[in-house]
Amino acid sequence: MKRFSVLTIFPEFFEGFKNTGIVSRAIKNNIVQLDAINLRDYATDKHKTVDDVVYGGGPGMLLKPEPIFRAYEEISKKSKPYVLITEPWGRKFDQKFAQELSEKDHIMIICGRYEGVDERVKSIVDEEVSIGDFVLSGGEPAALVIMDAVIRLIPGVVGDEDSLRVDSFSDGLLGYPNYTRPAVYKGMEVPEVLRSGNHQLIAKWRRWKQLENTYKKRPELLEKANLSEEDKKMLDMIKKNIEFEKFINK
Ligand code: ADE
Repeated sequence: MKRFSVLTIFPEFFEGFKNTGIVSRAIKNNIVQLDAINLRDYATDKHKTVDDVVYGGGPGMLLKPEPIFRAYEEISKKSKPYVLITEPWGRKFDQKFAQELSEKDHIMIICGRYEGVDERVKSIVDEEVSIGDFVLSGGEPAALVIMDAVIRLIPGVVGDEDSLRVDSFSDGLLGYPNYTRPAVYKGMEVPEVLRSGNHQLIAKWRRWKQLENTYKKRPELLEKANLSEEDKKMLDMIKKNIEFEKFINK
């Protein structure tokens, strides 16, 4: 079982997430344990204080160290977690990061607040993580994004493991377009190839579309992608605006 322990001042934020779709099924099937832990429960004073003013002056309040350390010590009793803290300047979250995290048994995520967290908390943190170059008011939405991307990579969570293999980014490229019935809708037709029943041809068309999509939308991804000789030939033709049909009849 994979364990997530989220330290937050808003545990209710995670209720909808825990009770919806793939995540709720993974929890019910005992593949995932997800505890949203209220920092207030670990406060040391009778007012349950979790934040305090900044030493040296300055605006805003910081999350105090004691509730975070106390919660961490309690959580670590059963298994020592890999500790993340959400920060806008952290390591950028991407599919590779999600894959790395999917191999950890126990992950603790400290949800930062936008004013900040006492620096001593960093002594228990393995990595600071950002979900993008923008500022959230708190780390909760980031923790949710991270957990969603990681949970679906855990074996047994997504029913059809094949669907993970064809995910965008899983091999460094974007995905190919898909269609369902009807074959024609509002005059827009499903490409002939996909209705041909020729699986080899379909596989080539899909690869072409992956390369084309990536070249048009996220060309920088091509630099790091693992491309075969055939991929490179396709890409050359795509760059010259040549049609897929020409590639097939070459
Ligand atoms: N906290 C505030 N902004 C954030 C971001 N972009 N990613 C992660 N944590 C954050």
